[in-house]
Amino acid sequence: MKHTIPIAKPVLGKKELEAVKEVFESGMLVQGKKVKLFEEKFAEYIGVEHAIAVTNGTIALDVALKALKLGPGDEVITSAFSFIASGNCVLFQRAKPVFADIDPRTFNIDPSDVAEKITAKTKALIPIHMFGQPAKMDALKEIAEDKGIFLVEDAAQAHGAEYKGQKAGSIGDMGCFSFYATKNMTAGEGGLITTNDQKLARKARLLINHGQSQKYRHDTLGYNYRMTEICAAIGSVQLEKLDEFNEKRRENAKLLSNGIRKLHGLTVPYVMKDVKPVFHQYVMRVEDNYSRGRDELADLLTEKGVGVAVHYPIPIYRQPLYLKLGYGGKKCPNTEEACRRVLSLPVHPLVDREDIDYVLDVLKDIS
Ligand SMILES: Cc1ncc(COP(=O)(O)O)c(C=O)c1O
Repeated sequence: MKHTIPIAKPVLGKKELEAVKEVFESGMLVQGKKVKLFEEKFAEYIGVEHAIAVTNGTIALDVALKALKLGPGDEVITSAFSFIASGNCVLFQRAKPVFADIDPRTFNIDPSDVAEKITAKTKALIPIHMFGQPAKMDALKEIAEDKGIFLVEDAAQAHGAEYKGQKAGSIGDMGCFSFYATKNMTAGEGGLITTNDQKLARKARLLINHGQSQKYRHDTLGYNYRMTEICAAIGSVQLEKLDEFNEKRRENAKLLSNGIRKLHGLTVPYVMKDVKPVFHQYVMRVEDNYSRGRDELADLLTEKGVGVAVHYPIPIYRQPLYLKLGYGGKKCPNTEEACRRVLSLPVHPLVDREDIDYVLDVLKDIS
């Protein structure tokens, strides 16, 4: 039988199904106990006072920035080497995303470039914990405190990751998570905001529920961005399994790196010494001195049944939408280089030893 290993796959079991069944049987599809319980459990796990569950990670970022009252004329520094939501959440506020370059080894935002891009208009900084490795939070926090700007963590790829013993999403003013199907843990679709600031938590709660402070009393303009009970039921079960999932991802990454290190021209993911990564993706770099081009390697692996992906092929500022908005002149050399070189291999918890041996054998043959 042909070996096929998908690049990503959610790990769902009987417990998730039972939890969903409970929701069906309760008849409470929305605004019941499951969302509240999920929020409490997630807040405790991350080590924060407040967790606000929402419909997805994009909305988590949008609501966080709205709670901080960002608007036209404000600048927000983030990285262009990310999923589009990292830039769009700034556009939603009619504010201006300012793209700082990344550290080529970690793919995370480079604090020294952040410092250079700060202006009198900078109101917030959004580091993204890329592929599950926390950004350099000490340096970023120092800049944010020194300049009096907000620090919002995009932890959409970093559930359970740690920076100097602190969980991603508990370090800045607010943290934003995604529970999309292929994230380290899922709720189907879903998102969540974490914070220790009671006022921001209250603001976020109003924003996601029609600005409603009491039943049918609406204090501010709000939306309906509430998480459903079914999503929360799945999320709660997945949270219980998260540490185990992440451990398996780290083990898989280690095995992949041990094999790939022996191949000339491929660079394995670099892990900083004071972090605990969760390998949302295993992203290697295909260097110029490798025997094939990155895209050729991707095609050859795909032919052999190894799922691969390029996270991410285009810097956000070069996306058609951003070109139309006039961001095309921006340049972040390390970001551009990463877009040309990166290739992700399967690392999710359903990948087993046999799969890894297969991937390594295929890579050896191609190299
Ligand atoms: C870094 C990053 N930020 C934000 C998001 C948006 O999350 P969602 O897809 O749940 O809207 C994602 C993922 O999909 C992401 O990877």
